[in-house]
Amino acid sequence: MHTAIERVVQAAPVVPVMVIENIEHAVPLAKALVAGGLPVLEITLRTECALEAIRLIKREVDGAIVGAGTVNTPADVDRAVAAGSEFLVSPGSTPDLIDAAIASGVPILPGVNSPSEVMALMARGFKYLKFFPAEAAGGVPMLKSIGGPLPQVKFCPTGGVSLKNLSSYLSLPNVVCVGGSWMAPVELMRSGDWSAIETLAREARAAAEQ
Ligand code: 3PG
Repeated sequence: MHTAIERVVQAAPVVPVMVIENIEHAVPLAKALVAGGLPVLEITLRTECALEAIRLIKREVDGAIVGAGTVNTPADVDRAVAAGSEFLVSPGSTPDLIDAAIASGVPILPGVNSPSEVMALMARGFKYLKFFPAEAAGGVPMLKSIGGPLPQVKFCPTGGVSLKNLSSYLSLPNVVCVGGSWMAPVELMRSGDWSAIETLAREARAAAEQ
C-alpha cells in the first residue's frame, strides 16, 4: 500500500498543483499539462468543482495520473477516493488522516516539515513524503539537513517552488520530484490560453531534466 506512491512520484519530475475554479477549464488544462510533459496532476480540493474535475480528467485525458491535493480530513479521503483519485496529497499529517488513507488503499503523499514528523511517518512505513511549505520551512538547506540523519526518506517539496529554484531541489539525493502551481496560473486559465500553459509545462520539464 505504501509502495504504490513510488509509481506516482517517479512518473514525472514536476507535479502541477491545480486550483480549478471553473469545471470547463479542467480538461483543456490537464491536456495542456500532459502535452507539455507533466502527466502527474494534483487537483486541490479547494474549489467546488474539484471532485468533478478529477472525474472528468480521469475519463477524458489520456496519459494523466490524477490525484487529489489539500486532502485534510478522513472525509476528504472518502470523497477524493470516490471521485477516482489515483493518489492523495496532504499539506500536513494527522494520525486520523493517515489511518483513513491507509484504509482506503489509495496511496498518500503526506505533508511534513520537521524531523519528528518524518520519523513518525517512517515508523508507519512511509518512504515518500511531501515537504511543505518548502521555501518557508527552510527550503534546500532544511532538506539537506534532514537527509543527514534520515536519508532513507524521499521528498516532493512544494510551496514556493518555481522554475528558478526547482533544479536546486531536484539535485538533492532525497528529492524525488517537486510540486507547484506556477504552470497553471489563474489568469491563463481564465483567458483559455492553453498553449501558454503547455509552454510553461514544457519549460518546467526541461528545467527538471537539465
Ligand atoms: C499548495 O498546496 O498551494 C502548493 O503547495 C502550491 O504552492 P505554490 O503555489 O507555492 O506552488
